[in-house]
Amino acid sequence: MIMKRTIDEITGSSRLRRTRKFGWTRRLVRENRLSADDLVWTVFLCEGKGVREEIPSMPGVYRFSVDVAVEETLRAAGLGIPAVAPFAREPHSVKTEDGAYITNPDNLVNRFARDLKKQTQDIGLITDAALDPYTTHGHDGILRQGEIVNDESVEMIVRAALSQAQAGSDIIAPSDMMDGRVGAIRDALDANGFQDVAIMSYAAKFSSAFYGPYRDAIGTGGLLKGDKNTYYIDHANSGEAIREAGQDLLEGADMLMVKPGLPYLDIIQRFKQAFSVPLFAYQVSGEYAMIAAAAANGWLDRDRVMMETLLAFKRAGCDGILTYFAVDAAKKLQQG
Ligand code: PBG
Repeated sequence: MIMKRTIDEITGSSRLRRTRKFGWTRRLVRENRLSADDLVWTVFLCEGKGVREEIPSMPGVYRFSVDVAVEETLRAAGLGIPAVAPFAREPHSVKTEDGAYITNPDNLVNRFARDLKKQTQDIGLITDAALDPYTTHGHDGILRQGEIVNDESVEMIVRAALSQAQAGSDIIAPSDMMDGRVGAIRDALDANGFQDVAIMSYAAKFSSAFYGPYRDAIGTGGLLKGDKNTYYIDHANSGEAIREAGQDLLEGADMLMVKPGLPYLDIIQRFKQAFSVPLFAYQVSGEYAMIAAAAANGWLDRDRVMMETLLAFKRAGCDGILTYFAVDAAKKLQQG
């Protein structure tokens, strides 16, 4: 006898494989499920008409001109995706030191908002109020003598939020990490008749190398002077993320987001335990690129890894996921 004890003696007759035996037992005991309702589609906008430009570092993801983006978003709504989050590649000619073009009613995001809302109320619109697509230096706030100045940046971000709400945004999602911006945005929305516009705080936005392909996609990568370490959270910290989220909720955030996603599942789980509020993760560009690159080499099964990562966010405690995979995943879910 090789083994000192029988398996039943070792496990006390518990056999976890009993519930794994058949497809129906696995379905019966499954703890988490992904549905199209969990997906927010992140979309890149660019100038022009009829434009679909594939992003080299994100194969399968495109920059769309506003007309195409609206069409594609209507299709996404048809697949059951509840919300879309646009990000703009603005031409260099509109960029300034202070990023004021973010408040222009005719910038890409605001045009997309108006055109989409003319077509449908069946899909929610989540807009980012950070300045980086609009500044000559690629920072999310205003740069003065080498420093991202907090309070002046918040004023511009508040004006941005108002112009987005005016254009039809349903949820303002400030990704800039300036102190006090959630409360300042809430005050301004309320004072201007936008009491029903919600705030999804990028409460835990970490300083991360996973944003690289996004910066290629919106053309801010080459512009960025220095790094964002003085305003994004150090990725060594988790207690600080809890403090940030608690603060944002006190200031009036309706929902929380963790970004990036997969390397930060521990943060998601801590948020889920600490706060009873809708919780989201942003599966960012670098996460998408890693999967797409490995799949292109035949090293990973793209669809299976996509579904596994999205379900992992649910398991960790997310109510939803902002993801470049939203349309592909919704199609996959529709096929069953
Ligand atoms: C900046 C912003 C970033 C992303 C969205 N808005 C990060 C950055 O450029 O520093 C990243 C999204 C992604 O990587 O998919 N406000």
